[in-house]
Amino acid sequence: MAKKHTIIEFKSPHSTEVREICLAYGNRSDALLEILHDVQEKLGYVPESELPIIANALNISRAEAYGVATFYHDFHLKPVGKHVLKICRAEACQSMGSKALISSVEKFLNVKMGATTADGLITLEATYCLGLCASAPALMIDDRPKARMNSTKAEALLKELGA
Ligand code: FES
Repeated sequence: MAKKHTIIEFKSPHSTEVREICLAYGNRSDALLEILHDVQEKLGYVPESELPIIANALNISRAEAYGVATFYHDFHLKPVGKHVLKICRAEACQSMGSKALISSVEKFLNVKMGATTADGLITLEATYCLGLCASAPALMIDDRPKARMNSTKAEALLKELGA
């Protein structure tokens, strides 16, 4: 017998937009990743308050929605800055000085990894391999990967963004 899908009317700050996104994918559970991407694109992040809405629309458990949203580092469950700077902490970059790069960027921005500058301009995050190991150390500013970085180049990039 087919499993019956019960729609429960959860309320959340963005439930209407989130339901529309789910509906655009036919409320298909195999479209969870695309839905999370679209929610992040629309809202700037994936608020935890919206995960029950998504779970309900796709007829999956909240734990499953939460598990996927937290497994992938690209999804932000909290608001982020206007720009997201990710610095690679994986092995090749570490061996080429990413630790020193991180320290200098943290000092320049006056934030620690995982935090956002007070003016909301930059969120600083760690990432683990951008596929640029041969040109380490690497970072990514929004969707733009940058290789062979050092603190001078990183500061110049950040200044271009207004930091
Ligand atoms: S280890 Fe940093 S890009 Fe691969």
